[in-house]
Amino acid sequence: MNFENIIISSENGIGQITINRPSKLNALNVATIKELHDGFENLDGNPEIRVIIITGEGEKAFVAGADISEFANFSIEEGAQLAQQGQELLFDFIENLKTPVIAAVNGFALGGGLELAMACHFRIASENAKMGLPEVSLGVIPGYGGTQRLPQLVGKGRAMEMIMTAGMITADDAYRAGLVNHVVPQTELLNFVKEIASKIMRNSPVAIAKAIKAVNANFKDGVDGYQTEIRNFGKCFGTEDFKEGTTAFLEKRKANFKGN
Ligand code: COA
Repeated sequence: MNFENIIISSENGIGQITINRPSKLNALNVATIKELHDGFENLDGNPEIRVIIITGEGEKAFVAGADISEFANFSIEEGAQLAQQGQELLFDFIENLKTPVIAAVNGFALGGGLELAMACHFRIASENAKMGLPEVSLGVIPGYGGTQRLPQLVGKGRAMEMIMTAGMITADDAYRAGLVNHVVPQTELLNFVKEIASKIMRNSPVAIAKAIKAVNANFKDGVDGYQTEIRNFGKCFGTEDFKEGTTAFLEKRKANFKGN
């Protein structure tokens, strides 16, 4: 696949997507959102890829937001369509992938950039990262799921303050608020994320996919998360990975999961 705005690489079962518009601080234009969808779909469909990492090119930004130059003249309908298409194509899509997705937040993660990081399964930041939802300073609100996912991660009060002030918080503040799981020096960020990925890769991909579904069910309207958990717990008993995991434990050896 040929991409203009992203770089895809893979090594040892880890897929990496790097958003590559550093001169625009990796701002998300529509073309980049489409490429990201295709890139994620491609890696998620590859059984050899066990974890996906997303990061931004350069030392300054993960993603500095949706591309403001693209929507400055939009009508009401075009605005709503932009948010709807983006959510379906990328943000909800990532959240519901079966492969774990980790955001390596290497600098500014603002607006759509923070929303992208929040759609990932979890986030790790470099010390220089700055995060915020500045949309109200532009006269608009977060449209790629930010009003929903930020309160889920940091609580309603903190989310309200961040959204209303449009301010940026530091990586350490984000860590204290539960928005990112770890903060590391920028030069160590990717290696640190890959170490966590390698821990994930020791475990059953089928079970991890079902765990993602069960955890996400808690945040879906009209879905009973406990029932989703029960159903997916049961399904695990029909998998080869479950047989391998339990047999390996009883035989006092490491499990060799095939992902089926
Ligand atoms: N959309 C489009 N272009 C963007 C962008 C965005 N969200 N964020 C940055 N850029 C572009 C700038 O226009 C500039 O392009 P240019 O060199 O062609 O003029 C380039 O990226 C570098 O940004 P610049 O503002 O010069 O860098 P800075 O270090 O002075 O400031 C930020 C960094 C992140 C504080 C600033 O770029 C910013 O506030 N960006 C917008 C953040 C935002 O509101 N995002 C939410 C969008 S809904």
